[in-house]
Amino acid sequence: MPAIVLLGAQWGDEGKGKATDQLGERLDYVVKFNGGNNAGHTVVVGGETYALHLLPSGILTPGVTPVIGNGVVVDLSVLFEEIDALEARGVDAGKLLVSSSAHLIPSYNRVLDRVTERFLGSRKIGTTGRGIGPTYADKMSRVGLRVEDVFDASILRQKVEAALDLKNQVLVKVYNRRAVEVDEVVDELLGYADRLRPMVADTGLLLHEALDRGETVLLEAGQATMLDVDHGTYPFVTSSSATAGGACTGSGIPPTRVSRVVAVVKAYTTRVGEGPFPTELSGPEGDALREAGAEFGTTTGRPRRCGWYDAPVARYAARVNGVTDFVLTKLDVLGGLERIPVCTGYEVEGRTLDELPATQTDLHHARPVLTELEGWEEDISGARTWEDLPPAAQRYVEALEEMSGARISVVGVGPGREESVVRHDLLG
Ligand code: GDP
Ligand code: IMO
Ligand code: MG
Repeated sequence: MPAIVLLGAQWGDEGKGKATDQLGERLDYVVKFNGGNNAGHTVVVGGETYALHLLPSGILTPGVTPVIGNGVVVDLSVLFEEIDALEARGVDAGKLLVSSSAHLIPSYNRVLDRVTERFLGSRKIGTTGRGIGPTYADKMSRVGLRVEDVFDASILRQKVEAALDLKNQVLVKVYNRRAVEVDEVVDELLGYADRLRPMVADTGLLLHEALDRGETVLLEAGQATMLDVDHGTYPFVTSSSATAGGACTGSGIPPTRVSRVVAVVKAYTTRVGEGPFPTELSGPEGDALREAGAEFGTTTGRPRRCGWYDAPVARYAARVNGVTDFVLTKLDVLGGLERIPVCTGYEVEGRTLDELPATQTDLHHARPVLTELEGWEEDISGARTWEDLPPAAQRYVEALEEMSGARISVVGVGPGREESVVRHDLLG
């Protein structure tokens, strides 16, 4: 089986972690290809809840080799904390591999992320404060630190010196913070070297060899299409490529080896942080969705902004990523609503648009055109086959499928591993 990409179609938290976990036993490798510990994936296995941030969701499945790809930014303190916490609960993290080319999040970038946000005031992005933006900026500015540098003390020192030359000026003169000592940073990073060494590999090469042997490789995104640095609601995005193209650059696997692109999409929409969100509900309806869906961030605990399903967003994700299958999650959360509004297009200053506006100015002014679909009263969390779903829930899924640009192959009806209705096999 060639490589499969699994990513988010909206603004994150669609349920990617659960979707990866459900495929887990049929996978050989799960590769995280972008982002870092800004991600938060909640996976529920046998009544136990796991919150993963930096580690790929495949780490929970024995037999899977989890891989942190070259496109990821790694905070080494978080890496080992997360491994220790999982091992304390009996999860074996011994097979984890880390790309030697992945970038490191040094402590000064965590500081810079937070002070920059404070400095921006009302223009802030609402980041997770994990140092993600400054670290990807360093990568592009060619002053970043890579995993491999931890094994060459003199190179590491030179790179930290080069980075701090400028950053200390900014920290002290612009933000009125104390300068960071080179030694402090170098010593902390070198302190991880022995524990890190056995995990580090040329992961691109290993994945090629695995594909040549016919093994199954899942490339798992953090964040989502609308948070992608190129294709999302810039500048209210994360700083990495969370779309299908990013799966290739962030793992070293070429597009010709990818056979499936699975997008996870929620039956309604949520967003954390600032930025445009046309179907957002800011009154009691939004509060009710947040309560029903337990929409509070896995990483920062922030309440998620909630709104109706936005079909042009799903269609856009289908187009940008070449989606072959959608996994529609949290359908159970919509139970009990008499009618369910769904966005089919937008009104922008007197014009009606069927697709996402081409400019961010228009997106900020877009008002959703809503159509109402019939709701259902029943609790559907026990549904395991298509026939178990009430006719109105079936019609809701079919209507979304019609509007969203690819087939809906799996429908989620609860957080647990078993709580899904499979219409088409994602690996078949
Ligand atoms: P991710 O970042 O895309 O992995 O998603 P998160 O884990 O941040 O958020 C998704 C939340 O929804 C998690 O708490 C999941 O346990 C939960 N979840 C996933 N699928 C379903 C579903 O079909 N129904 C319900 N009720 N919860 C779900
Ligand atoms: P998962 O993988 C939802 C959002 C932040 C902020 C913006 C930039 O769980 O779907 P960053 O710290 O990345 O520079 O913040 O992106 N954000 C997410 N929102 N789910 C995520 O990950 C997110 N990762 C980042 O809230 O608006
Ligand atoms: Mg999440």
